[in-house]
Amino acid sequence: MKILVTGGAGYIGSHTVLALAEAGHDVEVVDNFVNSSAESIRRVEKLSGVKIPLHELDLRDEPGITALLDGAGFDSVIHFAGLKAVGESVRQPLDYYGNNLEGTLALVRAMQAAGTRQLVFSSSATVYGDRAPVPYTEEFEPLDSTNPYGRTKAMTEQILVDLAAADPSWRIALLRYFNPVGAHPSGEIGEDPNGIPNNLTPFIAQVAVGRLESLTVFGDDYDTADGTCERDYIHVLDLVDGHVAALEYLAEHPVGARAWNLGTGTGTSVLQVIRAFEKAAGVPVPYVVGPRRAGDLPVNYADATRAREELGWVATRGIEEMCADLWRWQSQNPQGFKG
Ligand code: NAD
Ligand code: WQD
Repeated sequence: MKILVTGGAGYIGSHTVLALAEAGHDVEVVDNFVNSSAESIRRVEKLSGVKIPLHELDLRDEPGITALLDGAGFDSVIHFAGLKAVGESVRQPLDYYGNNLEGTLALVRAMQAAGTRQLVFSSSATVYGDRAPVPYTEEFEPLDSTNPYGRTKAMTEQILVDLAAADPSWRIALLRYFNPVGAHPSGEIGEDPNGIPNNLTPFIAQVAVGRLESLTVFGDDYDTADGTCERDYIHVLDLVDGHVAALEYLAEHPVGARAWNLGTGTGTSVLQVIRAFEKAAGVPVPYVVGPRRAGDLPVNYADATRAREELGWVATRGIEEMCADLWRWQSQNPQGFKG
């Protein structure tokens, strides 16, 4: 297949591009490097031995993305490009609605013009908001979120559902990721957040490598087994396998737009993650317990039945493997791609 990957230089995108190139697909990347650099793709090329055409472009440049797709014969687009920091989205909502919605609209209009009608979209468990029962199932409606970032995901899903309803030649996978963590086992590519990490596992890894002094656990008085929040952490390579399964499914099934949860189906607490990381890395992770973080839910995890039954996909990698791979990436690249 010939596949365009938007946001392909980013964390999940770069791992997906590597897997697609290794599987023999013809892959190209479009990215504006707002949260990444070309170094990730250079490493993907090194690992795969395949040259990856890399187009530096903002998706909101509609003439640019239209020209890129026009006549190029892409069978599918995997659309990772977007801004993703929850707290920043609260402070800068227009940047998030502008980038995530306008970028997607320009992309799908360009796909329509080019006759490329197969799309895999990066959605998020955040679309379940704070009213869905746990475990989350795809049937839950209405979609909403507790923050502007999440609302861009819920709105984009709605736009894509409407698009597929109006034109049944579209085949669209809405993949709702839970908490992607870990890295490629080579240690060559991984997550490289700008500034102080917002997410738990990059924060832990930066403490372990000495870039940060200590972790703050956001609350240990939740109604959970050890008092800390539980999440559904999923290895980025399992997530990648889910994208490949979705692409194969879309090629065979004219489904319109359909959502699948990509999660393991189990919750792991913050303290369990810290312990698993310490064991995998063999280094201590000093932490203090602080107050709860506003907006955190005590527990969430996926019901991943639909992905198993329809896509034939299940996550296979456990928390120890996630931590071991994360540590290999962080310890080999203490300053991320800049180091
Ligand atoms: P990332 O920031 O590493 O990757 C996103 C990439 O998109 C970056 O390389 C960035 O430079 C690029 N980009 C952003 N806006 C662009 C634009 N207008 N034009 C071109 N390129 C643009 O993030 P990630 O963790 O790899 O996430 C990928 C996708 O998955 C995002 O849409 C994110 O919202 C979604 N998602 C991520 C998580 C997570 O926790 N990592 C969870 C659920 C969903
Ligand atoms: C995990 C747990 C924190 C940092 C976010 C987005 C979600 C999705 C995935 C994109 C929580 C605790 C964290 C720290 C801590 N992204 N924690 N100390 O909040 O589950 O999900 O990323 O779609 O939309 O909201 O992930 O990694 O921030 O937090 O104790 O320094 O770790 O309280 O319980 P979250 P997270």
